[in-house]
This record gives sequence, C-alpha cells and structure tokens, in this order.
Amino acid sequence: MNRPFRAMKAGDDATLMASTMIGNSPAMLDVFDQIRRFAACDLPVLITGESGTGKELVVRAIHEQSRRAAGPNVAINCAALPASLIASELFGYEKGAFTGATSRRHGHIEHAAGGTLFLDEIGDMPLDLQGYLLRFLQEGEIVRVGGRTPIKVDARVITATNIPLRAAIAAGRLREDLFYRLNVLTLHLPPLRDRNGDAELLALHLLRKIEGELGQAPRAFAPAAMTAIRQHSWPGNIREMIATLRRAVILANGPRIEVSDLRIEPAPLEPAALSQRARRYCVGDDRPRPEPGSPAERTAVLSALEASQHNMTRTAEAIGVSRVTLYRMLRRTQIQLLPHARPQMAGLATAK
Ligand SMILES: Nc1ncnc2c1ncn2[C@@H]1O[C@H](COP(=O)(O)OP(=O)(O)OP(=O)(O)O)[C@@H](O)[C@H]1O
Ligand SMILES: [Mg+2]
Repeated sequence: MNRPFRAMKAGDDATLMASTMIGNSPAMLDVFDQIRRFAACDLPVLITGESGTGKELVVRAIHEQSRRAAGPNVAINCAALPASLIASELFGYEKGAFTGATSRRHGHIEHAAGGTLFLDEIGDMPLDLQGYLLRFLQEGEIVRVGGRTPIKVDARVITATNIPLRAAIAAGRLREDLFYRLNVLTLHLPPLRDRNGDAELLALHLLRKIEGELGQAPRAFAPAAMTAIRQHSWPGNIREMIATLRRAVILANGPRIEVSDLRIEPAPLEPAALSQRARRYCVGDDRPRPEPGSPAERTAVLSALEASQHNMTRTAEAIGVSRVTLYRMLRRTQIQLLPHARPQMAGLATAK
C-alpha cells in the first residue's frame, strides 16, 4: 500500500507539500517515525546517507513539522562555497571588515533566525571555521567577520553528509568536538536498494510527477520495465531514478514505458570486485590517506574510477569523499575527463 509520508502545515491538509516522501518499507517507516520525533524537539540533527537518498527532503520535512515551520529554512552547501567566502557568507561581516565591505551584511546563520539552518556536506567545512561553528552550537551566538560583539541567533542546526564523518576526523579534516555537537540525533537514510518494495512505489509516484512537469499524458510501465526497476540496484538512489524516468518519458513512443526506454545501466560492481588498490582507499579504512595531489592519491583515484567503470557517484563512495571533493581531487591530480563523455560513464584522458 502506498503510504506517503506527508509533512503538513496547519490548514494545509488538501495539498501535498514539497517534502512528500514516498516509502512503505520497514526502513522508511522507521525514518518517518524519527522525522516526527526529531521535529518535536530543537536539538541538532545529523543526516547521513548516500547521494540522492533524500537528505535535503528530510530536512524540509523536519522543518515543516517543527515549531519553526513559519520561520526560514536556510540551506547552505559547505562544499559549494569557495573557502575564501565561506566565513563572510555564513557569519556575515561588518562595514570595513575587508576591502569591498562597504556596508554591514548579515550572513546565512543570521538569516536562519527563528527557523532552521541546514549545513549540507558538513565534512567539507574548512577546518578554521569549524571552531566558530562550534561556538555557535554551544553558545547560540556568532560574531560577524570584522566585528567583536557577539550576536545571539536562535536557529536550529541540521547537518548532512554523504561521507563517513569518522573517517574525516581520522584524516584530521573534522574537529572531533564539533562532530559530537552535531551528532546528537542521527538519522540514517538507507539506500534505495535496502528499501524493500519502495522502488516500485517511487517509480509510480515519480512517473506521474514527471509527466505532469513535462505536460505528457499518463503512461503505464510495461511489466518488463517494472521488473527492471525492481531489480536495479539504483547506486544513484532516487536522484538516479528521477533522471531515468525523465529520459524514459521523453523516449517512450507508445502508451507504455518499455524496458528499453529506461536505459538502466548494468548492476554496479560489488565492493569485492573493486581492485585491490581501490579497496585500500575505501570508506572505513583508517590507514592514512595519500597526500593531496600526490602520485599515490592519483593512483588511488584512477583505480577507483576504473573499478567503478568511471561512475562518479560510485567512485566518490569508494574513496569515501563527496562528489565535489572527488572533482577537486581530479583537478589536483590532473586527471581529465573527456568533455564529450557521459557523466555516468565518463572516459578518461589522463594528463600524465
Ligand atoms: N522518499 C522520497 N520520495 C519522493 N521523492 C524523493 C524521496 N527521497 C528523495 N526524493 C527526491 O529525490 C531527489 C534527491 O533528493 P535529495 O536532494 O533530498 O537527496 P540528497 O540525499 O540530499 O542528495 P545529495 O547527497 O546528492 O545532495 C529530490 O528531487 C527529492 O525530492
Ligand atoms: Mg543534498
């Protein structure tokens, strides 16, 4: 039975909200239960899960069900902000703090006052800023760049990561004291392959949604297409399913979505099939990581790329970094992806 999780606002019981989450597997019913409990309190939440599992959607659901629902829900991707800007973006600045600071500016943390502050990819926050964030979590106050006066800000902090934070601590990239502050309530989003029966429910829900977006008439799935959806391991999770169905809706000619319209890639390699070199660099391995930009790092990235058949998401997971960090690694080790290569099956043009 389709039992969508609905995050509702008071007086909004007729419309499904943006944070509708589909799922009926025991794993997801447990997630929905945690969302309800976590929404009822004000403690920090750390959301973990592979890329595309719905971490951002969970943040929206918690926010919308919390007493802060009428307040702002400010999302910041720590990996996407340039390191040089992140302090002033997060904490704001005072007039004259640096060249070009012609007037005072509030940062994202202040903009989240009365609401929820979502820090995505927290494992990528620069080390020197982690102390300021810790202070905010402990004291509930910030100091703007170039300022001295502490400013009280009442915002609930939710963080997310798709890399194992304990590995980031072991590698010296994350402060342990910050980790314990963030890790009060943890919500792990299972990968789609571990949500028994949900792939079918999601496919039906997403197909209707995508047809609506693209202005297409409703179609059914051919039985073989549905079998393929059930059997695929969805390494890119719901994000991959959305892309697959968008493409299928465009490609389909008849009244049904056929299996050939899905163009589902072959099942990914099991970790056991990863090459020895890639495995040595795998998540959970506490051996020291190669120096950034070193030949050892280059070798590790190349072998993980090879083992995952050049799939960026799986390569990043095998190495234990976010995709943004993987792209940084590719740049600093001068591994170039061919410009015409498809994102999921990129060819390699190595510079060395
Ligand atoms: N249970 C679900 N039901 C319906 N849609 C979902 C569900 N989970 C995720 N989605 C949709 O899948 C897409 C990816 O979700 P989201 O951006 O929350 O993932 P994420 O874990 O933050 O991914 P990333 O790590 O890549 O940032 C979004 O369009 C989201 O609306
Ligand atoms: Mg996200």
